[in-house]
Amino acid sequence: MDTTSQEQTKKFEPPAATAAAAVETATQTGSKTRVSARDVNVHYGEKQALFDVSIDIPDRGVTAFIGPSGCGKSTFLRCLNRMNDTIEGCRVTGKILLDDVDIANPDLDVVELRARVGMVFQKPNPFPKSIYENVAYGPRIHGMTSSKDELDEIVYSSLRRAGLYEEVKDRLDQPGTGLSGGQQQRLCIARAIATKPEVLLMDEPCSALDPIATAIIEELIDELRENFTIVIVTHSMQQAARVSQKTAFFHLGKLIEEGPTEQIFTNPLDKKTQDYITGRIG
Ligand SMILES: Nc1ncnc2c1ncn2[C@@H]1O[C@H](COP(=O)(O)OP(=O)(O)O)[C@@H](O)[C@H]1O
Ligand SMILES: [Mg+2]
Repeated sequence: MDTTSQEQTKKFEPPAATAAAAVETATQTGSKTRVSARDVNVHYGEKQALFDVSIDIPDRGVTAFIGPSGCGKSTFLRCLNRMNDTIEGCRVTGKILLDDVDIANPDLDVVELRARVGMVFQKPNPFPKSIYENVAYGPRIHGMTSSKDELDEIVYSSLRRAGLYEEVKDRLDQPGTGLSGGQQQRLCIARAIATKPEVLLMDEPCSALDPIATAIIEELIDELRENFTIVIVTHSMQQAARVSQKTAFFHLGKLIEEGPTEQIFTNPLDKKTQDYITGRIG
């Protein structure tokens, strides 16, 4: 009897263990939590796409979302800056805090939220405007500058941080759409960081790029992580292993496992994660 009740007590321990793991992760990355999601459920009409997803995204550094196609990675990423609001029939429940502020708060200005939580998409999508205007657009609509000099400074520094300035400094007035794919993606990153976001969401940012452009973007992500909290969706486990410090594995709309990237790839706790990283599923 005693043994049984002890075993039962043990069974109810996982929440404490999970909390301990979370603290450990936070300590390992040496940072506080920037985004905290609890019990996030997402429906598209009748169809449920995410089930009770809870995760803490640490400040600075890169968190990777991996998992088979259709498992809900993009859906969850879009929850973080309320981009799902723009999809008809999409319903999000649960709680998401950005620096302790509930992003579902109706008083919150969504445009401002999306400046604080910037996004880079799979396919580079520069505006049909000049290189300069692509980057100047955000700071201008958010009234971040009071003079042309200040605006110039933000545009140049954003292009520099995105590793693009040297390649385009002599043709800033030319269309952004005239650049190569890899350059366009760096332009989109420059545009996203120009509004000084706290969090940068990247949904498979390299999937339309060749290996050389991909390597440049990965290097860039590695530099940006010092100053930004980056969340990247990738279907490439190699990429997740190269660029992230924390990895979350999704499967059929559920967050199966998360933890330090090295642990997820070398010593996953869940069989599904194991199966995925060894190529048995997905
Ligand atoms: N706009 C949408 N309308 C309806 N269903 C969607 C929409 N976007 C995604 N879904 C569905 O939600 C599930 C998760 O999709 P998604 O988040 O795109 O997965 P992933 O990014 O991991 O490939 C899939 O079943 C997909 O078909
Ligand atoms: Mg996706």
